[in-house]
Amino acid sequence: MKVFVDTGDVEEIREAISWGIVDGVTTNPTLIRATLAKRPGAKIKEYLEEVCRAAGPGRPVSLEVMSTKAEEMIEEGRVLYERYNSIAGNAVIKVPVTTRGVEEGYFEGVRAIRELSSIGIPVNATLIMTPAQAVLAAKAGAKYVSPFLGRVDDYIRERLGIKFSKDDYFSEEMARDDVNDGVRSGVDLLRKIRVIFRAYGFNTEIIAASVRNARQATEAMLEGADIITVPFEVLVKMVAHPKSEEGIKKFVEDAVKANYGELFRQ
Ligand code: G3P
Repeated sequence: MKVFVDTGDVEEIREAISWGIVDGVTTNPTLIRATLAKRPGAKIKEYLEEVCRAAGPGRPVSLEVMSTKAEEMIEEGRVLYERYNSIAGNAVIKVPVTTRGVEEGYFEGVRAIRELSSIGIPVNATLIMTPAQAVLAAKAGAKYVSPFLGRVDDYIRERLGIKFSKDDYFSEEMARDDVNDGVRSGVDLLRKIRVIFRAYGFNTEIIAASVRNARQATEAMLEGADIITVPFEVLVKMVAHPKSEEGIKKFVEDAVKANYGELFRQ
């Protein structure tokens, strides 16, 4: 089970990697835009090199294409892979499973995933909102699929008229089968993808993405995510607990009173 950090911020990447528990990085255009906005003068081309270098060998970094036509996405995927994989051998190309919404055709994403995968470029199929999309991406050869747990919860809550903040936990008990084709939450989406992948022996890895809070991260792990990709601030919440904080205060106090210092003197 792997933990990725979902950020475009190189300082966050370095800090999270220094903890020794981060196995990779995912970015998207929104995250990169937010990061560059905080760094006036930073050039995206060099900045992404820094991101790949900061992650380092053996920690995949997902970099997303920007076009919505298959041919263009394929070309961008090649360019990105060639340029950034040479930095630390860790580039993965993120391709949306469908670009319908911008394009007339539904299958531009799947075609791009197929082509890039067939020439040996590892693809992370992104914006996965249904089990069927995950299967199509896996059949096209994607190395990873990224179901967007939080955004599926958003969709269900919007359809049910539930008011929420972005990081609010959502329980599938609050859902109804008829609002989202039987998928009752983001975690339920992950569960269903896992069941199908196991049943048919797909070896595409599932990245639980769009993870908004620590409870959702735990549920994603319980449901067998191969990888969870988590924003920096959610990683911090995953290690925190008031009782741990209270406990360490008392242990430190008592260690001093019990003269523990003696144990470490030569
Ligand atoms: O990994 C995908 C993620 O960055 C999207 O998260 O919170 O914008 O839905 P969010």
